[in-house]
Amino acid sequence: MKKYVVTGGAGFIGSALVRALLARKDGAVEVIDNLLTGKKSNLAEVASRVVLHEIDIRDYTAIAGVIAGADTVFHLAAIPSVPRSITDPVPSHEVNIDGTFNVLRASAEGKARKLVYAASSAAYGDTDVLPKVETMPPNPKSPYAAQKLLGEYYCGVFSSCFGLDATSLRFFNVYGPRQDPDSPYSGVLSLFMRCLLERRPPTIHGDGEQTRDFTYVEDVVSLVIQASRAPGTAGKVYNAGNGGRYSLNRIWSILQGFEGVNIPPLYGPSRAGDVRDSQADTTTAVRELGHAPAFTIEDGLRRTLEWYRAAN
Ligand code: UD1
Repeated sequence: MKKYVVTGGAGFIGSALVRALLARKDGAVEVIDNLLTGKKSNLAEVASRVVLHEIDIRDYTAIAGVIAGADTVFHLAAIPSVPRSITDPVPSHEVNIDGTFNVLRASAEGKARKLVYAASSAAYGDTDVLPKVETMPPNPKSPYAAQKLLGEYYCGVFSSCFGLDATSLRFFNVYGPRQDPDSPYSGVLSLFMRCLLERRPPTIHGDGEQTRDFTYVEDVVSLVIQASRAPGTAGKVYNAGNGGRYSLNRIWSILQGFEGVNIPPLYGPSRAGDVRDSQADTTTAVRELGHAPAFTIEDGLRRTLEWYRAAN
């Protein structure tokens, strides 16, 4: 029986990946998560089919035992926030850089067949041209972006120097069920969902005309699994986005339309380290990984909203 290890598997994206792997029924799934931002409840109905190791990727010895003998390691564990990496940079650095090094080292020494790394579109920073394509020079604007970029470089080096077949996917603003709206560092759409259901105005940082390639979690999960099986991708970096671009003002307007309400947002100062615009060129991921995003923004937003409504 193959073993799949998902670091960060109790998180929002990780738990969706765990469900998708279980649905394929071709391997055992083990999760490494320190429950800092992940939650046991994210795995509630699949808990009996998953081994959850409550350990921290900063602890090499602890994770090496779990990763040894894995077929595929999906490395999603991170402190995933741009502002948090500025207000509290040390843990963010230790988890995202030292922890990533530990996961790569454990995967190489444990002879994993494949590693897929959750990199970030934040690595691009602000570019003159959109959409953002993998051949553009990276230009990180925050510690988080720099950390995620270094993880890509390490995936490349582990592929060339240590024989680990590691592929990086640059996630673009993933949203969907189970994204946690309870932290000051929560992803913007989880906060929008909660505000909409509570009929409260969201706070928008800046003028709301910044854009993001909001990507539904199930599309990202499908791509992660495809990347784990595509040949010839060692050391490579691919965009994992939908290819669209929506301003925060536009998203809030779509959401209000769903509910037939009119709630003007509050506007505050722009956030340090924020990228202005983000949009993925998906050409290479489509060609080399078979990327085929299936959810329009309206579909994804509706499904997400219904999940939050039911969860409340
Ligand atoms: C997000 C992810 C990051 C990922 C990156 C890839 C989260 C928490 N962060 O970063 O892990 O690597 O995409 O592109 O999922 N905003 C508001 N009001 C709020 C909160 C945010 O206006 O209450 C704004 C922000 O200033 C920003 C935009 O919404 O302009 C998106 O912010 P956020 O959801 O934190 O994501 P990113 O910083 O883009």
